[in-house]
Amino acid sequence: MKCSMAPGKIILFGEHFVVVGKPALGLAVTRYATVCVEKGKGLVYSSKLGRIEPGAPDATLFNALLKSFEEWFGVKALVDIYVDSEIPISSGMGSSAAIAVATAHALLGYYNVDHSKEDVLKLAHEAEKAVHYKPSGVDTTLSTYGGFLYYKQGVIRKLDVRLPIGYSIVVVNTGVKRSTGAVVREVLERYSRLGKTGEHIYSAAEELVELALKALHEGDVKLLGELMVVNHGLLWSMGASSRICDLAVYELLEQGALGAKLSGAGRGGIVIGLAKKSKAEILINKLSEKGLEVFTVEPDYTGVKNTIREKRFSQ
Ligand code: PMV
Repeated sequence: MKCSMAPGKIILFGEHFVVVGKPALGLAVTRYATVCVEKGKGLVYSSKLGRIEPGAPDATLFNALLKSFEEWFGVKALVDIYVDSEIPISSGMGSSAAIAVATAHALLGYYNVDHSKEDVLKLAHEAEKAVHYKPSGVDTTLSTYGGFLYYKQGVIRKLDVRLPIGYSIVVVNTGVKRSTGAVVREVLERYSRLGKTGEHIYSAAEELVELALKALHEGDVKLLGELMVVNHGLLWSMGASSRICDLAVYELLEQGALGAKLSGAGRGGIVIGLAKKSKAEILINKLSEKGLEVFTVEPDYTGVKNTIREKRFSQ
């Protein structure tokens, strides 16, 4: 049996604005999808979904991945796949990308194929294409390489920056699942109605990413937090937020976060906050008391890697 684990992600700045060519900043975080492969008959088992039938929609990602693997590496994969992910589904944390990356990595490792992370990324991207309409590649890249990424107009650049020591990202999972495509469409429709005003908002979002980069390089967490709030405001103005997202932002800020914003498509999904590590626990307790699902994550600077699974989850 060969097992790999790959991190999920958050978008720190620039979601939605990125759709029309503005930059965005993403970060791989310590919530993982673990995938094991072993000799088998092509069956997929998920700890959340149970056995996934070969023709089921949930099998699409794996079918596409195995097909590309066979075509590109000339190996017919006769394996069963075991998926165990702690990344919330359809929440903006890149769950399917992490599963695709971990599967690609485990498969290449299982068949002892000489490979680079670039190969893992290409395979995973092919699988993502089968399940998401035109994926940007940000999620799979973050999951493969880890760390911070700058993305603009299809060009992805890994950044040599770190989150300042002593700070964590607090994640509120609103539990509201939404369709990224539907929110993107409505935001774009508003953008097209706003004319010059829309352009100003999008230019501000672009400048914000550049300021955030500078703040990260300089370790200026106070400014970083403030920029998150401004980013949330811009997303709000474009209709990407919702009552539950705003509520989570207020709660995070009121309980001591330096900044907070929705992350990803919005209208549900996750909301992130930047907080001092020493304050994170209090913050989590306070928000949990209000019935919100909340947890902290740290940056993952490694990306996909081998792991060992002692026990297989029940099938
Ligand atoms: O919520 P997610 O992880 O699907 O992120 C969507 C990010 C958008 O900028 C809203 C869309 C996109 O394709 O970049």
